[in-house]
Amino acid sequence: MNEQIKRNLLRNDIIGKVLFSSEDIQKKVIELGNKITEDYIGKDLLLISVLRGGIIFLTDLIRHIDLEICLDIMSISTYGIGESSTGVVRITKDLEEPIEGMDVLIVEDIIDTGLTISYLMRTLKARYPKSLEICTLLDRNVRRITDIKIKYVGFNIGENYIVGYGLDYKQKFRNLNAIHELKIDTVKKDIESIKNSSIF
Ligand code: PRP
Repeated sequence: MNEQIKRNLLRNDIIGKVLFSSEDIQKKVIELGNKITEDYIGKDLLLISVLRGGIIFLTDLIRHIDLEICLDIMSISTYGIGESSTGVVRITKDLEEPIEGMDVLIVEDIIDTGLTISYLMRTLKARYPKSLEICTLLDRNVRRITDIKIKYVGFNIGENYIVGYGLDYKQKFRNLNAIHELKIDTVKKDIESIKNSSIF
């Protein structure tokens, strides 16, 4: 069996049905861009995204915001066990500029437990922005364990394990245009192997 066929078979074991098509996502991105444009007219809007997943959404979103925006990127490391983040976060690349007096909008691909965004909110609030709000493409509030207020939400999702449009499976498939479910058998196998690993 040649290498490409093997890869395709493997891919079929991982990527399941489309949850949000490329068209669904692009429609939502335009809607959010228009709303943000209306809300921030006359303000000094700075969009901040977090590597890695958030940047796909960010780069699409900014092209539908009809304002003179500024842009900055942060990189953070979260310490989690398997699928769960612990809320222990470390900045590995900080913002390039101060944010004091700016209207700041954090752009995320997904907010899950809310631990990462809570850390970011605390960190950025301490730098005196004029305002600080959140825009996320996906909101999985069934797993939320922090109290956060999200100004802009693209789609609400349930417990589904997902991949594509910035979201990865073992660092791959971020470049898919649609958001797909992960095949449940693959997820179960992963969870089993985490449980059996030396961490426990
Ligand atoms: C994802 C996402 C958020 C975080 C949300 O990033 O981009 O930053 O998880 O999870 P939480 O609400 O439970 O804290 P991830 O850590 O997977 O890194 P990545 O963007 O590099 O994929």
